[in-house]
Amino acid sequence: MRVTIRVPATTANLGPGFDAFGCALQLYTDVTFEETESGLEITGCDEAFTGPDNLAYVSYCAVLASLSEEVKGVKIHIDAHIPICRGLGSSAALLVAGAIGANVLRGNRLSTQGLLNITNAMEGHPDNLAPAFFGGLTASMVDNGLPVAVNFPLHPDWEILALVPDFNLPTPKARAVLPEQVNRADAIYNVSHGALVLKALELGDEKLLRNAMQDRLHQPYRKHMIPDYEAIESYAKTVGAAFCLSGAGPTLLCITRDKTLKEKLEKKLPAITQNAWEIMPLHVAFEGAKVV
Ligand code: HSE
Repeated sequence: MRVTIRVPATTANLGPGFDAFGCALQLYTDVTFEETESGLEITGCDEAFTGPDNLAYVSYCAVLASLSEEVKGVKIHIDAHIPICRGLGSSAALLVAGAIGANVLRGNRLSTQGLLNITNAMEGHPDNLAPAFFGGLTASMVDNGLPVAVNFPLHPDWEILALVPDFNLPTPKARAVLPEQVNRADAIYNVSHGALVLKALELGDEKLLRNAMQDRLHQPYRKHMIPDYEAIESYAKTVGAAFCLSGAGPTLLCITRDKTLKEKLEKKLPAITQNAWEIMPLHVAFEGAKVV
């Protein structure tokens, strides 16, 4: 039996919602699973990712283990359109695909919440996983070790532009620069700004979003690892867009209601940046991962 799972890209954090907020975007990775008698064969990706540590396979095995099912052989084919190590949820997409793939092949006995629990234990934070499973804009918490995710409404008029650079930044490296402890003023800053980001996204209030989409827990520590960050942030603010790092970066996100922003960025970026940045307009994916 064979099954293909389509998983959306996700942008996590949305500024102050570190490890909590996420949004699914219409850019997809498809992963096909076919059970065989024995062995592991992974195709469609770089040779370096064809071993048993491939996240789709790790997650596939974790779900089978939780179902007390034997892992036989499997062929996995990855058709990835989500760029790797760019802050758009490529790793979460593989985990989600592996989890759903294994569950579907063994009779769909686990709920989506059950699959989120298993994959969250592997990823360590649910902010990409929740929107990848459920679609749309989500906020998540981990309570007693278990993730709880809810959807939030989004105004329909937002333009989301992902600025994807020609260099990558592995998430472990981008997490290693973060301090273990934060001070109270910074914690309050993020809690308050985070609540208002969600309201601004719901209302379509660009000025409120611009003000609220600021962070003191991760972006100040990461921006030095991303050449051109400050130049792009400063330009985004000049033209009135809300700006943040997408996940752990290095992709940068501009959120606006100005339909001409892409054109403006195309003209301006070559003059203010050292690297090549692809500007990708991405619509929200209101539907999460599914069998195709
Ligand atoms: N919340 C995570 C981070 C997203 O910022 O490190 C990337 O996995």
